[in-house]
Amino acid sequence: MSASTVYQLSNNNGLLIEFISYGAKLTAVKIPEGDKSIDILLGYDTPEQAINGDVYMGAICGRYANRISGGGFNLEGEFIKLNQNDGANHLHGGHKGFNVKDWKVEKTELQGYSSAYKLSVLSNDGDENYPGNLNATIIYALNDANEFLIDITATTDKTTVVNLTSHPYFNLKGAGNGDVLNHILEISAKQFTPLSTDMVPSGEMRSVKNTAMDFTKPVVIKDRIDSDYEQIQLVGGLDHNWIVNKQQGELALAAKVTEPKSGRSVEVYTTQPGIQVYTAMHFNGSDIGKGQVPFKKYCGIALEAQNFPDAPNHSNFPSSILKPQEKYQEKIQYKFTY
Ligand code: BGC
Repeated sequence: MSASTVYQLSNNNGLLIEFISYGAKLTAVKIPEGDKSIDILLGYDTPEQAINGDVYMGAICGRYANRISGGGFNLEGEFIKLNQNDGANHLHGGHKGFNVKDWKVEKTELQGYSSAYKLSVLSNDGDENYPGNLNATIIYALNDANEFLIDITATTDKTTVVNLTSHPYFNLKGAGNGDVLNHILEISAKQFTPLSTDMVPSGEMRSVKNTAMDFTKPVVIKDRIDSDYEQIQLVGGLDHNWIVNKQQGELALAAKVTEPKSGRSVEVYTTQPGIQVYTAMHFNGSDIGKGQVPFKKYCGIALEAQNFPDAPNHSNFPSSILKPQEKYQEKIQYKFTY
C-alpha cells in the first residue's frame, strides 16, 4: 500500500466513494446512472495528480481548519504562534497540515454501514507549533441509504485547539461539466460570521435576515454570487461560515445543494456548530482536473462542516480547546440523492 493506493467504499445501490491515504483525500463520488456512472466530486484523473494537485481538494483539514487570525492566539495564558501560510493568517493547519500527511488506513466494520475504513494520523507536539501530540482518527463509512459518514475523533496529551473538517468540492452536473451557478443552495442557518478585510471573522454573529446571506429558503447560486452585499463583494462569491441551527452536539442538517436538471442533491448533516460554504473562486484554469478539464472559477462548491474560523481568538464562539483526558468527537455526513 502506498500513498496513491485507491480505496473504495461501495453499497448495494452501486454508489462508489474513493479515497487515498495521502491527506485522507476523497477522490471520487460515483453515482450510478444506467450502465454508466457520474462522478460528482472534483478531483483528478490519477491518484498521483491528486497528491500533487490542489492541496485541500477532498482532504481532511487540520489541526485547525480555516483561518486563525495573525496565526496566533492565547491558550491558558501562553501566546501560541502558529506558522503563517495565508498572508499573516494560519490556514487549514499550516504548511504541513493533515491534508499532506499520509494517513494509516485499515479496513473496519461499522454497524449499519456496508463498508468502512478507519484512518489515523499522529501530529507531534510542536507540529506547525501546535501544543500536544494529537492523535486523530477518522472513519469513512457508507450505507445503503447513500449516507457517507465521516466520524472524527482526536485526543491530545497537552491542552491544544482542534477543528477538523473535510474539504470536498461537489459539482452535481458531474466534475468538469461547467460551473455550479445553476445549483440550488439551502443553509439551515439564521446567522453567519461576517469577515473582516483579512478574511477572518470579525467576531460578530450577524442575522441573515434581509441580507443576501439568507439561504434558509432555496436559492439559485447565480442569483446571489455577484450580489452587491458587502460580504459577497469582499470575497467575490460565497466563502463564509454559517451558524447551523441546532443544539450543541446534535447531528443536524446544515446545508443542501440540488442540481435542478438532474434532480441530484447532496445534504450535509453535522454535529459541528458551523458550515463553511465556498464557491471555488481561486481556480483560474491553470490546474487541470478530471477528464483533462481545467478547474475554473465556480467549478464546484465546497461544503465544510466545522467549528467557526478563528474561534481560538473569540470567546463568544464555541470553544475549540481540547484538554488531555477529553475526546474531540464530531460527525459529518453527506447524503446523496439521485
Ligand atoms: C476557505 C477558502 C480557501 C479554500 C482553499 C476554504 O475552506 O474558506 O478561503 O481559499 O478553503 O481551498
